[in-house]
Amino acid sequence: MKKLYFGSNLKMYKGISATREYLQKLVENTKDISRDDIELFIIPSYATLQTATDCCDRDFVRLGAQNMCWEDQGQFTGEISPCMLAEMGLDLVMIGHSERRHVFGESDVEENKKVKAALSHGFKTLLCIGETAEQKEYGISAETLRSQLKIGFYSVSPEECKNIWVAYEPVWSIGVNGTPASADYAESMHKEIKTALYEIFGEKAEEIPVLYGGSVNPGNAESLIVQPSIDGLFVGRAAWDADKFDTLIRDAMKVYAEHNC
Ligand code: 13P
Repeated sequence: MKKLYFGSNLKMYKGISATREYLQKLVENTKDISRDDIELFIIPSYATLQTATDCCDRDFVRLGAQNMCWEDQGQFTGEISPCMLAEMGLDLVMIGHSERRHVFGESDVEENKKVKAALSHGFKTLLCIGETAEQKEYGISAETLRSQLKIGFYSVSPEECKNIWVAYEPVWSIGVNGTPASADYAESMHKEIKTALYEIFGEKAEEIPVLYGGSVNPGNAESLIVQPSIDGLFVGRAAWDADKFDTLIRDAMKVYAEHNC
């Protein structure tokens, strides 16, 4: 059976002590789950990262950053250098989250610069993609995802696939006003994504896990995780309580195992 990915983006929510408590509890809760079966990762906000790396047993949880600059240093006020993230001992960075693209206006070309910089620093690089409600309405979801992938991974070599993760997060499905994608719709978009990744990277694309995110909750996690093209769940709100996230993971793993035995 394939390894399942479960992760959470803490966005700009938990502060330093809340992040510490959350991570310690999540490790305690999930310690008995074999990490051969799951990859568990948490992406806290920047200001908490040093505390997170100090307090969290990294054998159980991989920690990542929510964004980074494409340059190592320079006149980039307010940006975070990949070298600084590496110095903190991080090995995962998320690029192109929907809120970066749609609230802060980042473009595919910028995401590509960041992806290349992250890979060159040896980070696991999680590129987030997703169509808006309008693009879905116009029937151009697959085209949008393909173009985000083609530009996002422009001039990235197939050898880098071992360090690439992709999250499909339809913009209309994210956050308090989001509507979760149905499992069938998510599966059809994941298939499109896997086809596009194959076009870009060839066979090495099979190494890239593709996660679904956007209003994942205890009511839909199981129907999503059993979809053949969904390799994991990238969760926001429903993961921010360590007990509830632990339950969601276990329930999803159980259903996945039953489905695949
Ligand atoms: P929600 O699960 O709260 O919709 O957030 C998803 C997300 O943005 C993960 O990056």
